[in-house]
Amino acid sequence: MRSTISKYVTAFAVLASSVSFAQAADVEVLHWWTSGGEAAALNVLKKDLEEQGIGWQDMPVAGGGGTQAMTVLRARVTSGNAPTAVQMLGFDITDWAKEGALANLNEVASAEGWDKVVPEALQKFSKYDGQWVAAPVNVHSTNWVWANKKILDDLGIAQPTTWDELVAAMEKVKESGKTAVAHGGQPWQDATIFDAVVMATGGPEFYQKAFIDLDKEALGSDTMKEAFDRMTVIRSFVDDNFSGRDWNLASAMVINDEAAFQFMGDWAKGEFLKAGKKPDEDFLCFRFPGTQKQVTFNSDQFAMFKQGDKPSEEQKALAKAIMSPSFQSAFNVVKGSVPARTDVPDTDFDACGKKGMKDLAAASESGNLFGSMAHGHANPASVKNAMYDVITAQFNGEYDSETAVQELVSAVELAQ
Ligand code: BGC
Repeated sequence: MRSTISKYVTAFAVLASSVSFAQAADVEVLHWWTSGGEAAALNVLKKDLEEQGIGWQDMPVAGGGGTQAMTVLRARVTSGNAPTAVQMLGFDITDWAKEGALANLNEVASAEGWDKVVPEALQKFSKYDGQWVAAPVNVHSTNWVWANKKILDDLGIAQPTTWDELVAAMEKVKESGKTAVAHGGQPWQDATIFDAVVMATGGPEFYQKAFIDLDKEALGSDTMKEAFDRMTVIRSFVDDNFSGRDWNLASAMVINDEAAFQFMGDWAKGEFLKAGKKPDEDFLCFRFPGTQKQVTFNSDQFAMFKQGDKPSEEQKALAKAIMSPSFQSAFNVVKGSVPARTDVPDTDFDACGKKGMKDLAAASESGNLFGSMAHGHANPASVKNAMYDVITAQFNGEYDSETAVQELVSAVELAQ
């Protein structure tokens, strides 16, 4: 409770300061990139704009996955004080576009040829009613494992490729006295793991049916029950202090040799890099066992809130900067994600980044690319939040798997 209150106090303090100091020629950017790795990536964008003489009014709202940021955004827009630009995910963009709140970026999009370089899977969210309403900065994906190489080597654990191998590996780590799974018990983090577990348990067609089509039968199936059973298994491998922990502190446990694995999107790589760690030497990145061919993606995009009939010069400049190929490379190398544009070379990316780009292209080609349920790319926030509630309640032992399945069916039905 206290942490919730302090979050709001912080949010409103930031809000008050941004109201009084925003300059007309600045862009005010609302985002949730507040961890070490995220802030380092954000700096690449800030510097890029600075060089073009555009001032940056920072509006950070801490909270992984952006739940708190979206709450603050709603309050700002309701009070008639929308920020210039906002980091947003998938269906949130569509929801705001439906309300008519977003500026039309068609002019800059056609001058810069966005149609040709942004893949369809992203355009689905960047465009509304044929108009560009957001500029995609990256593609993240959620079905990754981040592993401490030293712990695995010391214990003679090979990279697990199946669920059973993963369970055996987690058991070995636990027996050694280290934490097997570094996790932060927050709804969006529980849901991030569930993305991968459902994909691994049911396969791509099941993921599509359950999470994207919201098929009642799939949601209420024995396969879904098995996925919840697997969440219970994972729950038995987290440490006692997992509840409420921020995701980057969970990454730090793997970085500091306290824990073997974190199941998290590739923003986690930003933390490893910030700590001076190297892929294949200090840490390993691989797909969650059983999802080697699939990619559950989310894309951070910047939507510009209407300030008049047309986007302002600063908004256009920000959109253009975000979409420049050299920026997309420089930013994503630091962020852990891969470029949103398909024409950016992988030259500057490390082994995990190169793998991320290859996996994304292959998954897209073979029909194995799916919007992440946990990160707003499978369904609107109402459905996503309804799922979060059930996933978290089950993870914390409030529901057994059977009950969770029934609750999931009814929660999703109510939320639609
Ligand atoms: C965003 C990432 C961010 C992560 C943790 C995700 O929803 O796409 O950019 O780093 O949340 O905050």
